[in-house]
Amino acid sequence: MTSRKAIRSQSVDGLSDYLEKQRQLIEKALVGVLPAASSRPITIHAAMRYSLLGGGKRLRPLLVLAAAEAIGSERAKDLPSVLPAACAVELIHTYSLIHDDLPCMDDDDLRRGRPTSHKVYGEGVAVLAGDALLTRAFALLSEITPAKRYPLSLLLQETAMAAGSLQLIAGQVADLEAEGRKLKIADVRFIHERKTAAMIVLSLRLGAMIAGASPRQLEALTDFGNSLGLAFQILDDILDVTATSEQLGKSAGKDLKASKATYPAVIGLEASRKEAVKQTRAALRALDPLGAHGGRLRELGEWLLKRQG
Ligand code: IPE
Ligand code: IPE
Ligand code: MG
Ligand code: MG
Ligand code: MG
Repeated sequence: MTSRKAIRSQSVDGLSDYLEKQRQLIEKALVGVLPAASSRPITIHAAMRYSLLGGGKRLRPLLVLAAAEAIGSERAKDLPSVLPAACAVELIHTYSLIHDDLPCMDDDDLRRGRPTSHKVYGEGVAVLAGDALLTRAFALLSEITPAKRYPLSLLLQETAMAAGSLQLIAGQVADLEAEGRKLKIADVRFIHERKTAAMIVLSLRLGAMIAGASPRQLEALTDFGNSLGLAFQILDDILDVTATSEQLGKSAGKDLKASKATYPAVIGLEASRKEAVKQTRAALRALDPLGAHGGRLRELGEWLLKRQG
């Protein structure tokens, strides 16, 4: 008889093989979506490639692919339909990181284990590399052929909404304006839901819509993403306190120095950990309507809670 421990390690091994395989697909696709490094002006294309192809967990593209699989239709295997969306969310995310690191925002020197874009290319090119990645993302999305019940215009609108001034940008503005202020936990949650959860929800919804999700499946994935996204940012806040810069590939301990609005700053580390567990459990429960097809997303949710970087 196989022990419970053996089953667990089998499934963890299964997940790491899966992650490895999906990441290879994503990396290969990302290399092909930007203009060649030799395109003029060389600096901007070098800067775009430097940030996009320089590591990262690739969580958002992984979620696009896993959400498409969770629908259980043949369309999930149609990679030319799904991969442009997976790349697009990573381009938008990478742009948001380049801008987030600028001296006028979080002023960070280290990202994905390397000097930040503005440290290498200067602030002007870093700003423009972010702009160009965001713009390229929409061009990529325009190549998609989603399932019939979801017109392409809907996917474009949802992407613009998630990345725009009511979601990602709203969170980033509220994050900046919160520096040094005493906030309530509901205000920090407002920030986290927008600056982080919105793009995680978008990733899941794009994958699901391309694969032809039913309204019930789409709603389940949206609920999953909202809770998972909040848990993910709470963990990011926790890791900023508890992990090393080496583990994170970005400077640890910055949030306290910059008096950032984080869960640990408002409710402490222990309560933050409990909240991350609670939100992850809520996320996993939301997957119930997907049945066995939700297995990979379940594993991804459990894996994210244990992450150290
Ligand atoms: C960092 O995101 C910014 C947050 C929203 C917490 P990730 O932790 O996904 O960063 P990469 O893509 O792996 O570098
Ligand atoms: C940023 O949150 C979220 C983004 C939209 C980029 P943080 O400022 O906490 O992200 P890190 O810690 O710099 O990666
Ligand atoms: Mg920030
Ligand atoms: Mg930051
Ligand atoms: Mg952070």
